[in-house]
Amino acid sequence: MLIVALLLAGGPAPQMAQAAGDPEKGRAIAIEHCARCHVVGDHNPMGGIGSTPSFQVLRTMKDWRDRFESFYARRPHPVHVRIAGLPSFTQLPPNAAPFTLTLGDLDHILALVEGMAPAW
Ligand code: HEC
Repeated sequence: MLIVALLLAGGPAPQMAQAAGDPEKGRAIAIEHCARCHVVGDHNPMGGIGSTPSFQVLRTMKDWRDRFESFYARRPHPVHVRIAGLPSFTQLPPNAAPFTLTLGDLDHILALVEGMAPAW
């Protein structure tokens, strides 16, 4: 019945759409590239850098998805994160070990964060 109602209503609102990514792949990517600064769920609860928000805290924010979708353009990331196929946001040299992701990797990270319990 709910499905029929959703179909009649034109389907779920876009902000409720499921991320196309795989949360397990997102977890592996986050552990490799994000966990040296961020706490990523139960992977490193006492890790990360103190001044860097945990993924669980970011997940509490209403606009968490916007923040993750555009994280590579938000400081401090532009100097050390590249997205394959997108122009660099700065020509400054990296001040932390650089890495490159694809937009598909980003979908996997979004799926991970979507399924993560917010900190509160
Ligand atoms: C070298 C350290 C470092 C790495 C690596 C890093 N981050 Fe961050 N990130 C930060 C810091 C520091 C902040 C807080 C910036 C602030 O307070 O303005 C942040 C903030 C964020 C935010 C919130 C941005 C905003 O403006 O609201 C998101 C989303 C984010 N990071 C995602 C990621 C993801 C996803 C990865 C891995 C693919 C990653 N970060 C890797 C240091 C890092």
